[in-house]
Amino acid sequence: MKLNIVVLPGDGIGPEIMAQALSVTKAVCDKFGHELTYNQAVVGASAIDAVGDPYPAETHALCMQSDAVLFGAIGDPKYDNDPSAKVRPEQGLLRMRKQLGLYGNIRPVITFPSLIHKSPLKAELVDGADFVCIRELTGGMYFGRPQGRSEDGNTAYDTCVYTREEIERILHLAFKFAGQRRKKLTVVDKANVIATSRLWRQVAQEMAPLYPDIEIDYLFVDNAAMRIIQWPKSFDVMVTENMFGDILTDEASVITGSMGLLPSASIGLHTSLFEPIHGSYPQAAGKDIANPLAMILSVALMFEYGFDLVKEGALIREAVNASLEAGVVTEDIADGGKAYKLSEVGEWITDYIINL
Ligand code: IPM
Ligand code: MG
Repeated sequence: MKLNIVVLPGDGIGPEIMAQALSVTKAVCDKFGHELTYNQAVVGASAIDAVGDPYPAETHALCMQSDAVLFGAIGDPKYDNDPSAKVRPEQGLLRMRKQLGLYGNIRPVITFPSLIHKSPLKAELVDGADFVCIRELTGGMYFGRPQGRSEDGNTAYDTCVYTREEIERILHLAFKFAGQRRKKLTVVDKANVIATSRLWRQVAQEMAPLYPDIEIDYLFVDNAAMRIIQWPKSFDVMVTENMFGDILTDEASVITGSMGLLPSASIGLHTSLFEPIHGSYPQAAGKDIANPLAMILSVALMFEYGFDLVKEGALIREAVNASLEAGVVTEDIADGGKAYKLSEVGEWITDYIINL
């Protein structure tokens, strides 16, 4: 198969983890006889520095022409505490999502047996937790207009907007995911208070008969936040709007004790994008110490969801599990044992794939 991808390393540790992700991608393509071509482009703070725009038109054009996008991380502390900055790295991320039509963000939450003890929850609560959060990514308060300030600057407003069409397409995606898993879908909203949530719930109720084999239930978002820490094993597939999803996916990602290990996929109208759920970790940039596993597992998701190449994805997962079992791990999970460098972990995994 011909794979034509774009790599967007981005900021902070992005370039370092991306280098390892690319080696893994090449090794898998060699092994299975796929022909890989790739282009690299700038995004985020590094793109602001280079060309004054966090998501330049050239980067967008390359993404549109390719079959998949591998994305590292964006964000730079110099923008975080400057609310008056006119151009911000995050704007690039939001524009990229909107322009690529990436309406569905898929974040699998899985546990790794060797890391359960790192969970902030009791082991018996998380051991075996395995669910998927599906977050709507191009609507809601992030994009609703009007947004801004009154003339005197003392009143601010955001607008939360959802159309039936936007809700239907994300729910179809969620029903399909549930169908491939344990057939349980939880719709998370705030229908007791918010108008957009009431439309979500109405549309979900109308669609449910189309998927008779899926058991559907509804949770208010505050209750869902509580349930994620009280009984995470009760979830299979969870679907929610953009802002709720932003918050719940951060919460869900840490309960496994392995936030540095979780990948995500964003899919939609054009090219799909694969990225780790962690950020740019600026304190570690250039030090060769960050954990490359979430980025490498994003490559597994790219093969699986982006190209329907399931064996290729499985091989990457196997290699990652082998590295964990062999104790070839970065400092964040070394637990007093030997801490390997980011590049050593990446190279170990690439060698595992080559030599298998
Ligand atoms: C995420 C991030 C982004 C978001 C930020 C960086 C704009 O938190 O991908 O979850 O809020 O969507
Ligand atoms: Mg977030």
